[in-house]
Amino acid sequence: SNLETLIQRLPKAELHLHIEGSLEPQLMWDLAQKHHVELPFSDVDAIKSAYQFDNLQSFLDLYYQGADVLRDEDDFFQLMWAYLCKCHEQNVLHAEIMFDPQTHTERGVSYDVFMPGFIKAIEKARDELGISVYLILSFLRHLSEESAIETLEKARPYYEHIKAVGLDSSELGNPPSKFERVFAQAKALGFKLVAHAGEEGPPEYIWEALHLLKVDRIDHGVRSIEDPELMAYLKQHQVPLTVCPLSNLKLCVIDQMSEHNILQLMNDGLRVTVNADDPSYFGGYLNENFMALAEHVNMQASDLITLVQNGFKASFLPEKTKQDWL
Ligand code: ADE
Ligand code: ZN
Repeated sequence: SNLETLIQRLPKAELHLHIEGSLEPQLMWDLAQKHHVELPFSDVDAIKSAYQFDNLQSFLDLYYQGADVLRDEDDFFQLMWAYLCKCHEQNVLHAEIMFDPQTHTERGVSYDVFMPGFIKAIEKARDELGISVYLILSFLRHLSEESAIETLEKARPYYEHIKAVGLDSSELGNPPSKFERVFAQAKALGFKLVAHAGEEGPPEYIWEALHLLKVDRIDHGVRSIEDPELMAYLKQHQVPLTVCPLSNLKLCVIDQMSEHNILQLMNDGLRVTVNADDPSYFGGYLNENFMALAEHVNMQASDLITLVQNGFKASFLPEKTKQDWL
C-alpha cells in the first residue's frame, strides 16, 4: 500500500528499544547450543509459540530467561549487530538503545564482557551502515536503589559510550520515587534521563518520573490520558512519550490495536513517538509498529510523517543534527 511504502521509505529514529528484547529465537537457540545452556523448549518454533503474555510480568519472566544465553563478548556483538542490520533494512538511521546491565551482572557476566561487544557492533554499524547509536543504561526497578547505584558506579570506565540512564522492569509496586537518589547522581554526571512510566502504572508514576527523577522523556506514558492536568503539563513542556503499539497489544495494556490512544495523545498536542520496545517478543520492529497503526488506527500519511519527525525531535541528538532530518 501507499502507507507501507511511505513508512519503509522515511528515514526514522528509534528511541525505545531494549537490546535484550531484540534476541530472536534462532539466535537464542544457537547460543544455548554454543554454551550448553538448557532451555525449556524443544526447538525454535517452541520458543516462538511461548510468546503469549497476560501482562508485563509474564513477558519479563521469559525475557530474563532468554537473556541467560548471552555469555561472552561475541554473543553481545552478534545481538547488537543483528539489531543494527535490521535498522538498516528498515531505514532506521538513529537508534537510542537500552541495555539492562543488572540482567547480566547478576549472572556473573560483567561490563567488560557486554560493553566491548556492544561497542564493536555500534562502531561497525556507524562505519559500514551510517547508523548513529546512543546507549541508555537502564536500571531494573524490581531491584534495590543500592543495586542501581552500584550499577552506575561500575559503568564508570564506559561513561563516554553512554548517553542516558533509564528505568525498566516490573512497574507496579516499584514507583520512580524509589530511585530518586541514583537519578540525581546520573544527572550530576551529565547523563540524559528517561524512565518507563504509565505503561501498567498509574499517572502518579508519570508525575514522579517528571518531578522526582526529572526525566527528559517518558517511556510508554499511555496512561497519561487518565489525568487531564498531566496531559496539560506534557503538552506545555513537550515532554516526549515513546509509545510502543505492538508491545501494548502483546502485554494486554490494550485489548485491540484499534483501541490504541496514540492518535488522541497526538491530537491533544503531545510529542508522541512510535517505537518497538522488544521486537523479537512482540512480533515486529519499527516499521511493523507503524504498519499496525496504519492498519488499525485511523492514521493519515500526515500523521505518520509527524510521528516520524517527532522521533528525531525527541532524540538526544544535537539540535543541529536533528535539523538535518526535519
Ligand atoms: N523491559 C523490557 N521491556 C520492558 C517494558 N516494556 N516494560 C518494562 N520493562 C521492560
Ligand atoms: Zn520498554
